[in-house]
Amino acid sequence: MQLKKILLLHVCLPLGTESSDSFSFYLFCCFVFLQVSSLRGKVALITGASSGIGAGTSVLFAKLGALLALNGRDVQNLQKIAKQCVECGAPLLVPGDLTDEDTVRKTVDQTISRFGRLDVLVNSAGILAMGSIETSDLAQYDKIMNVNVRSVYHLTQLCVPHLIKTKGSIVNVSSVNGQRSFPGVLAYCMSKSAIDQFTRCIALGKINIIFNRNPGVIITDVHRRAGLDEDQYAQFLEKCKQTHALGRPGEVDEVAHSIAFLASDAASFITGVNLPIDGGRHAMCPR
Ligand SMILES: NC(=O)c1ccc[n+]([C@@H]2O[C@H](COP(=O)([O-])OP(=O)(O)OC[C@H]3O[C@@H](n4cnc5c(N)ncnc54)[C@H](OP(=O)(O)O)[C@@H]3O)[C@@H](O)[C@H]2O)c1
Repeated sequence: MQLKKILLLHVCLPLGTESSDSFSFYLFCCFVFLQVSSLRGKVALITGASSGIGAGTSVLFAKLGALLALNGRDVQNLQKIAKQCVECGAPLLVPGDLTDEDTVRKTVDQTISRFGRLDVLVNSAGILAMGSIETSDLAQYDKIMNVNVRSVYHLTQLCVPHLIKTKGSIVNVSSVNGQRSFPGVLAYCMSKSAIDQFTRCIALGKINIIFNRNPGVIITDVHRRAGLDEDQYAQFLEKCKQTHALGRPGEVDEVAHSIAFLASDAASFITGVNLPIDGGRHAMCPR
C-alpha cells in the first residue's frame, strides 16, 4: 500500500468498541467539517491578498462566507482577486505598502469603520531575497525585516484590541525556513524564525487563538520575484521532488484550506502552534 501522508492527530475521542470508535470518528469528522465551513459572517483582514497564498486564501474565505478586507500593493491585482470574492458582497480594498505606518493604521481603521468588528487577521504579505552573510548587505536585511517582521508586529498590535472583543484569531504565514536552515536565504530565514517566536509569545497572553502556518515550497511568484529566472525556477521545482516527502511542491489551495481550518471554530482549542504545510519538508534531510 502506498501511504499518501502520515499525520499525528491529538484528539480525545470517546473510548469503546472498535465500531463505536469508528462511529465517533465519523461524527467527529462531520463536526469538524461543519465548523470548518463556519467562516460565515466572520470579518477577515488578509494581507498579501493581491498574489499567491493571500490571494488564494481570500477566494476560499469568500466561498466559506467571510466578509473581507484585502491588502496588497498592486491595486490592479487586488481588484482582480476582489472580483473572485463577491459571495458575501464586494470586499473592502485597503491597498498600500505595509512598511508605511500610516497605511497600517488606515488599513485597520477602514476595516473597523466598514464592518464594525474583526474576527480574523491573516498575515500573508512577505518577500524573499537571496543572500548569505558574505553576499547580502544591511539594506537587504532591513528591507526583509521591515516587511516580514516589523509590519506584521505593527498590524497585529493594532488589530489585537478588536480581536480580543470578538475572541478572534490570527494566522501568521511563516515558512519552513523559520524552522530549518537553508543556504543563501539568510535574512529571510531569520525573519521567519522571528515570526515563529512572535506567534508563540503572543499566544502566551491567552488573548486569542494564534497560529503559524509554515509552508514548504508553494507554487507562487515569490521565488521569481526574489530573482530566479525561468530555468532556475524549473530546476528548483524539480528538486522539490527530493526535498519534500510527498515528492512535489504544494499548491496555493492546499495552504488556503489549512488557513481556513485554523481561522474556523474547528480550531478553537489550538493556539501558539507552528503547523507545517510543507509536504513533509521539515522532517527531511535530503542527501
Ligand atoms: N510560496 C512559497 O513557497 C512560500 C513558502 C513559505 C512561506 N511563504 C510565505 O507566504 C507568504 C505569501 O507568499 P507568496 O508565496 O504568496 O508570495 P507572492 O505571491 O509573492 O505574494 C506576496 C504578497 O505580499 C505582498 N507584499 C509584499 N511586500 C509588501 C508590502 N511591503 N506591503 C504590502 N504587501 C506586500 C505582495 O503584494 P503586491 O504583489 O501587491 O506587491 C503580495 O500580495 C509570504 O509571507 C512568504 O514568505 C511562501
